[in-house]
Amino acid sequence: MMKSSFDFQPFSPKQLKILSWWRGGSPYASYDGVIADGAIRSGKTVSMSLSFVRWAMESFRGMNFAICGKTIGALRRNVIAPLKQMLPGLCCVCTDRRAENLLVIQCGGNVNYFYLFGGKDESSQDLIQGVTLAGAFFDEVALMPESFVNQATARCSVEGAKWWFNCNPEGPFHWFKTGWIDRREERRLVYLHFAMTDNLTLSPATLQKYRAMYAGVFARRFILGEWAVADGVIYSMFAEDGNVVDAAPFVPEREFIAVDYGTFNPCVFLHFVAAGVGDGIRHHVDREFYHSGRGEESGIAIQKDDAQYAADMLAFSGGRRDMLIIVDPSASSFITRLRHEGFTNIVPAKNAVTAGIAAVAVELEQRRLTFAPRCVHTVKELHSYVWDVKHAQKTGEDRPLKENDHCCDALRYGVYFDVLTNTSVRPSVSGRGGRF
Ligand SMILES: Nc1ncnc2c1ncn2[C@@H]1O[C@H](COP(=O)(O)OP(=O)(O)O)[C@@H](O)[C@H]1O
Ligand SMILES: [Mg+2]
Repeated sequence: MMKSSFDFQPFSPKQLKILSWWRGGSPYASYDGVIADGAIRSGKTVSMSLSFVRWAMESFRGMNFAICGKTIGALRRNVIAPLKQMLPGLCCVCTDRRAENLLVIQCGGNVNYFYLFGGKDESSQDLIQGVTLAGAFFDEVALMPESFVNQATARCSVEGAKWWFNCNPEGPFHWFKTGWIDRREERRLVYLHFAMTDNLTLSPATLQKYRAMYAGVFARRFILGEWAVADGVIYSMFAEDGNVVDAAPFVPEREFIAVDYGTFNPCVFLHFVAAGVGDGIRHHVDREFYHSGRGEESGIAIQKDDAQYAADMLAFSGGRRDMLIIVDPSASSFITRLRHEGFTNIVPAKNAVTAGIAAVAVELEQRRLTFAPRCVHTVKELHSYVWDVKHAQKTGEDRPLKENDHCCDALRYGVYFDVLTNTSVRPSVSGRGGRF
């Protein structure tokens, strides 16, 4: 056997099932595919990608296959790079025709063609309609549009074709849960549920580190591997006794402002002080600016325009036009106004809602995120910020109820931006490209 540059460690019994279910003699050999779901970092992608190529090379000659990720970029990082290191161990030679997003894999005299697709990439959606496949592998399938997966699975028309899926759990109403996992028997799919302990390469310290990275519904999904519903209070780990303190419990190293913008709806500025990098980041929100154009509190509705809000910002920043200001990405007119008023360090916030919420939840849970008692609107909203379960039931997608969410949006923009900026080594989870 040729030497592989991948550092193989012993496979766990679950991984061995992924590697062997399709072989002659297995009770599942005639099944039409396999689903592996469960915890992050549990060894799903490594075992499945290896098994998929082995199965393809041992079962077919000169056929086309699909390897799909959320995007081509995520696929290349999370699947193709490690796979290329593993292939020499199978005595396979892989030629990567990058411009065509095609891997040509040769074993002895046999050759098969593996086309790469990104479920969220528009071009992939069109391209997949034209091919005939003997098999398709979907890494992180729950992050792809259902329409793409339906297209791709429908292209598997060669006799003996099989479907291979893996993912981390989302909510229980997600299309992949209801349409595929719950219907696995009628669809004749092998189902394997992974826990972190099914990856024998994770040390107790690493397991502990991952466990500490998630809280609430995200811990149930990504650590326990449950298709847990996101309902009730989002920041259930927030406690005034623990997250509300008179002064920053650390020496501030940087400061910035985060903005959720509204004209009729409330407009919120939060001033943060922060310190540390990586897993040691601390945040303290020491001041808030809150204005509602509806005048619920004063009884007098006063709507402000961009120029008035820019003046409020100048006062809030203590006259500092070089302050880093992270702004609601949809507030383009306000961003333009701030720049016009001479603010030099304005950045649009990243609006990945669940990833941002997961980041805030962890910081709250770890008590690394605190608030001054005078941030009364923020503290109030943290208690009443809830998931929109009706929306999830209808669409399978999680999102917060859009009520009293303005301070929480500004908080999410600030924390998520700072965590992404100051955390260099992040495990990639769910191909979201960030820490979460
Ligand atoms: N048998 C193994 N030998 C070597 N490394 C492994 C093995 N199983 C898992 N790993 C490593 O553990 C990490 C997580 O595995 P991965 O398959 O990406 O998990 P998942 O897809 O479940 O998130 C990866 O770095 C992977 O290379
Ligand atoms: Mg994976």
